[in-house]
Amino acid sequence: MTDALKVVPKTDSVETGVTDVAPIAEGLADVLADTYRLTFKTHAYHWNVEGPLFYSIHNLTEEHYENMFAAADELAERIRALGQFAPMNFAEIMQKSVIKDKDAQPSAGEMCEDLAADHERIAHRLHALVELTEGRRDVVTEDLATERSAFHEQAAWMLRAIAKG
Ligand SMILES: [Fe+2]
Repeated sequence: MTDALKVVPKTDSVETGVTDVAPIAEGLADVLADTYRLTFKTHAYHWNVEGPLFYSIHNLTEEHYENMFAAADELAERIRALGQFAPMNFAEIMQKSVIKDKDAQPSAGEMCEDLAADHERIAHRLHALVELTEGRRDVVTEDLATERSAFHEQAAWMLRAIAKG
């Protein structure tokens, strides 16, 4: 094995002026875990939804899982830019996330309500992350968390609007 293949990743201290990176990286990892789990749930509902609103829900969920898949990458890379490790195994994703699976097969309306509630939960976690950045000079994470919150709040509104009536 060449030396280039023997490099094991290490955490690093950052000199960008962000102070106290550990709690911020943890907050980012929590949101990453939620984002990953909700990406999968959204994808699964996209596959299994039925009824007259199939097309609307199928298309909206596609927009949402594509957005969240890209966001997971951004969140993980922000953790790395803070010198910390991104999650490495799925057990960690399951343990950190507040997103729960449904036991029974949901109706189209229940799928929308369930996803909306999950988007709201993630928005709450993102608001907490914004508060965590205060005083730690992490404007990049603050900006990312604010942008992600806008997505989740909009997604919750759209899903609730479909579920009405
Ligand atoms: Fe698809």
